[in-house]
Amino acid sequence: MNPQNRQLQEIVARAEGEIGQAANLHDLQLVKSRWLGKKSELQGLMKLLGGLPKEERPAFGQRVNQAKSQVGACVRLREETLKEADYLRTLEERRLDITMPGRRRQAGALHPITLATRFIEDVCISMGFEVAEGPDIEDEYHNFDALNTPDDHPARDLSDTFYIEDDVLLRTQTSTVQIRVMETHKPPIRIIAPGRCYRNDNDASHSPVFSQLEALVVDKGVTFADFRDTVDIFTKRVFGEQIESRFRPHFFPFTEPSAELDILCSACKGSGCNVCKGSGWLELGGAGMVDPNVFRACGIDPEVYSGYAFGFGIERVAMLLLGIPDMRMLFENDVRMLRQFRSYKGVHQGSGASS
Ligand code: PHE
Repeated sequence: MNPQNRQLQEIVARAEGEIGQAANLHDLQLVKSRWLGKKSELQGLMKLLGGLPKEERPAFGQRVNQAKSQVGACVRLREETLKEADYLRTLEERRLDITMPGRRRQAGALHPITLATRFIEDVCISMGFEVAEGPDIEDEYHNFDALNTPDDHPARDLSDTFYIEDDVLLRTQTSTVQIRVMETHKPPIRIIAPGRCYRNDNDASHSPVFSQLEALVVDKGVTFADFRDTVDIFTKRVFGEQIESRFRPHFFPFTEPSAELDILCSACKGSGCNVCKGSGWLELGGAGMVDPNVFRACGIDPEVYSGYAFGFGIERVAMLLLGIPDMRMLFENDVRMLRQFRSYKGVHQGSGASS
């Protein structure tokens, strides 16, 4: 074998050795350019071609090219081997272990306030009420003026009411919906209006955002006795048959006479406990016969029609029905608390406030 052939063989052998050692595709790329690139030994041999006798040139050139394609073939082979190994490794890494326990998706649940609202709605619908709605952002007319509230009434104060602009405010009560319904509907009217209300209050038993439910009945010949009876049936259906209700004289600008509506403490059934602070009764909300001035503001003749209204906070009801001790728990949205309440059907027979 002539010395050039031996040199070529030796180069190919070294190249193949290094190619075989390349541990990954990146290394292989470097090895490839070292042995086949412009500055490689094989390329250097090509430059010797000119110095050879004419008759030897073609054969030598051919042999160098053979050597190059041998090295090239070796690179491709290695490349395939490395790619295959990569692929197998990826398969192994991403292997799905079907014996592992699955991750359970948590089902969502309705918020206790929504549960309570729907429950009360169901009770009222069963008593012939329809559900009405009004806007959260109101004007002074619907929140105060039409509700017969004097200009200097403290509730209008900046410290009690969130004003957005002069005449634009966040409603402080759902009584606004009384006006909106009476403006647009002729009696007989029998509606409830659940919704958010806003007041500049924030402590253990008051949140600046809270929910109320308003009820309004207007018709010919509606009496205080109808009122009293309806409220009693309502409270019993919501809180349970044993839960009596009572009216205490009070004042609201938009009702006359007005009353505060109390229910027998649903925790102790009247014997006195820490929920009712020993009195046996819980204050639920406000109530009264619609003031004639309110009828007049809505174009309803108080000589022909009479009616009653009541309203209360839904958070309070949710707390009593579901046995939630602190109002702030309703707004913290701690799922450990929320997931305990998934249904409202028959809540007063179930987990009630007896704890
Ligand atoms: N709107 C009153 C309040 O927020 C409650 C009420 C409603 C009183 C209906 C009388 C009639 O305190």
